[in-house]
Amino acid sequence: MTADPSVSPVADPDDVSSNPSANRSFQDVVATRMSRRTALRGGTAAAVGFLALGAAQGTAAAEPGRAAAAAPTGRGGRGGRSLLGFKPVGTHSADKLTVPEGYEAQVLIPWGTPIQPDGPQWHKDASDTAAEQAQQLGMNHDGMHFFPLGHGRRGCGRGMLVLNHEYVDQSLLFTDGPDDMTAEKVDKALAAHGVSIVEIAKKADGSWERVGSRRARKVHGATPVTFSGPVPADHPELQADNPPMGTLNNCSMGVTPWGTYLACEENWNSYFGTEDATWKPTEAQARYGLNNVGFGYRWHLASPRWDIAVNGKEANRFGWVVEIDPMNPGHTSVKRTALGRIKHEGCVTTESRGRVVGYMGDDQAGDYIYKFVGRKPWRHYRRGHSPLDDGTLYVARFDDDGSGHWLPLVFGEGPLTAGNGWQDQADVLLRTREAADAVGATPMDRPEWLAVNPRNKDVYCTLTNGTGEGGAANPRTPNPYGHIIRWREDRGDNTATGFRWDIFQLAGDPAYDDSVDLTEETMFGSPDGLWFDADARLWIQTDISNSAQNLPEKGYDRIGNNAMLAADPRTGEIRRFLVGPRGCEITGVVTTPDQRTMFVNIQHPGESTAAWGSPTPENPRAVSNWPDFDPEGRPRSATVVIRRTDGGKIGA
Ligand code: FEO
Ligand code: CA
Ligand code: CA
Ligand code: CA
Repeated sequence: MTADPSVSPVADPDDVSSNPSANRSFQDVVATRMSRRTALRGGTAAAVGFLALGAAQGTAAAEPGRAAAAAPTGRGGRGGRSLLGFKPVGTHSADKLTVPEGYEAQVLIPWGTPIQPDGPQWHKDASDTAAEQAQQLGMNHDGMHFFPLGHGRRGCGRGMLVLNHEYVDQSLLFTDGPDDMTAEKVDKALAAHGVSIVEIAKKADGSWERVGSRRARKVHGATPVTFSGPVPADHPELQADNPPMGTLNNCSMGVTPWGTYLACEENWNSYFGTEDATWKPTEAQARYGLNNVGFGYRWHLASPRWDIAVNGKEANRFGWVVEIDPMNPGHTSVKRTALGRIKHEGCVTTESRGRVVGYMGDDQAGDYIYKFVGRKPWRHYRRGHSPLDDGTLYVARFDDDGSGHWLPLVFGEGPLTAGNGWQDQADVLLRTREAADAVGATPMDRPEWLAVNPRNKDVYCTLTNGTGEGGAANPRTPNPYGHIIRWREDRGDNTATGFRWDIFQLAGDPAYDDSVDLTEETMFGSPDGLWFDADARLWIQTDISNSAQNLPEKGYDRIGNNAMLAADPRTGEIRRFLVGPRGCEITGVVTTPDQRTMFVNIQHPGESTAAWGSPTPENPRAVSNWPDFDPEGRPRSATVVIRRTDGGKIGA
């Protein structure tokens, strides 16, 4: 996202580290483990070999160097028929959405669509009020899940679509743009954030529509919420001037084994600001990047809720994983504090030995990867007791020899003692980042989405890009293209405290970086969204910053607009599936259970870009006019429905 959409595009705020610890960076570790050639030129084959070999032999993953020698060098064929059956699409930088031959895309629910069919219709001049916006889809669609209504075929044709609205672009949200901040504008911006829960159904002709629903609702920036776990709602650090409400900057997500949705709070620090020149962040606030301007939204000018100098404890209410019940409109959303307070990109869950396991990235340069493990099998919990309130939070350390360790963030263990200034478990969780610094976690290049392979439980994580502060020995310093790592937990048990890791794929354009093992057909940059379908096809979505997208000086001109690709994790084969319109990122993907319908989110088309300029109140269409192409309209984020014209399985 762009920090302040009213000004020229800048790098993502998460590109700037706020980690002052001396913990060794991931780049250092990679550099030590592999020579530049091994790591980069042969990295993918080595990575594929290392985990695949372990699987084939039924052993723990082999030592990567040795595995590389034994691994097949080809791409495809191994492990049976390729998972990828579509004809790849080419890169482009046009203002259009492209999908493979034999596929069609339908725009389903753009920003402003009323949650109920009889709700307030969206106005193309953005004159909708805050009250109207609260009954419409929010802005900047992000993580998403489809919850079927009914079993079998029935559930493949009707369900609740739940999706996040990560942030707002105030130059497109308001008729008069971001200037002159008012209470009404703050309320509208809050109403355009959070989570939309809408009911959708397939029509006789195969297309989809939003339908009326007793379950449809919004959980936005001013909806009542509560807290649970080691930092309960009545904790002194959560007592702000206003009641507990709202969730913000919900990026990726998760789904629990019991069918609830987890919205995750990412760049929540950037909503706060102050005009008080005497205010200085505490050490804990600075570690989360709280400062006096944030995104530059300037909400604090019209609402004391967002004045960090006046209402500092409001900031303690953000940075959590939020559990939402999509089937129960009376349910109050709960912030599950046992999962820690970070800039949560998402929380992908799996199950091992009956316990729930949640993997989480903290998306900022030099921050960490976390895992929550439930204390006992989740089915053992009774009503009123959540498996997400009772477990251990760990942070990852990646060692030079390809091993990894999950370090517990538990009060009284290791350095997290009273003698070192820690008060209790609530204190550890409120200051999760500092606790992770203390135990020696490995700083990473902006951890984004995680995904668990349904076939073998390997865990994949996108590291979108980074400054590569790993020193001269670092193979990619800086790392403008990002990469995808993966690991296998010891004994294939996702509750384990040890793992073996390797790099699945280094992203980039081989024309600019000859160490990149990709071609024009497969190249991509800044991987972000990541999702496994039921066949273990890995879907990769990109979020190249608009400060770099389509620019030769950034090595990003040939890669073009942001895209979605599919990978076969057994062979490393990659094909580009979809390319988005100008200024957008691709984020959020899910299919119906039969895999015949796919939902994908196109986020922030038309946002301020270095390549094409910035939208203004006079010309909101300066960069893009997707998807309406109305000469008097404006670009809108939207969920797109993708189907095969022959009705077949997506991607196959
Ligand atoms: Fe909201 Fe880290 O992307
Ligand atoms: Ca983004
Ligand atoms: Ca993201
Ligand atoms: Ca991103």
